[in-house]
Amino acid sequence: MYLKPRLYRLVQTIVHGDYSNSLPRVQRMLQIQPGEVVVELGCGDGGFADYFMRQGCEYWGVDVDPARIDAARRRFPQANYLLADAVQLRLDQLPRSRNFFGHLFLHHIDDQACRNLLQLLFAQHPEATFVSVDPIRPDPWFANPFGTILSNMDDGRFIRTLKDWRSLLQPWKCEEEIVSYWPRCPISAYFARLTSSPVV
Ligand SMILES: C[S@@+](CC[C@H](N)C(=O)[O-])C[C@H]1O[C@@H](n2cnc3c(N)ncnc32)[C@H](O)[C@@H]1O
Repeated sequence: MYLKPRLYRLVQTIVHGDYSNSLPRVQRMLQIQPGEVVVELGCGDGGFADYFMRQGCEYWGVDVDPARIDAARRRFPQANYLLADAVQLRLDQLPRSRNFFGHLFLHHIDDQACRNLLQLLFAQHPEATFVSVDPIRPDPWFANPFGTILSNMDDGRFIRTLKDWRSLLQPWKCEEEIVSYWPRCPISAYFARLTSSPVV
């Protein structure tokens, strides 16, 4: 279900609050230093921009939805944004960076598009880290029917089970964490740190 920016912000605030469950993990997994460039794919209305700018980083948000990019520009005008489809991303449109992340982004694109994006990213930026944070579809569905209904209602059509996230990201995954958002939300999140040469 597509939500207009205001309603979307309300839902994000209810589920994620001030992102205090996600932000420290994303930052730790990226191992980002002040002064570095950080790129968020699927940035929405820029909920992460302020945090990274306060860490002294140069933040770039990429999103395919003009309404969300406009909302992000209004919220945090000092940050940098690119209106683009991340599936067809031209990395030369962004400054060179070794820090990429997608917070609730990869479940918007299909398996082949995820693979193409990650292959392109690591081919052109072998030194990069990509941190992915996405919802986990309950499996089996009857173990968590409410979580399953919410997964089916989500705007992103590719909320995967834990097994499917692991299998999709396996070629690059060097660290993972499963985080419960209960009681805010009955769906857990899969955090994965991806690099071009994962530890096997
Ligand atoms: C659930 S929102 C997450 C927004 C933000 N990362 C956050 O956590 O607040 C997912 C975002 O991904 C964007 N998106 C979906 N498909 C995309 C694509 N192919 N390229 C760029 N952005 C995309 C949507 O427009 C939406 O803003």
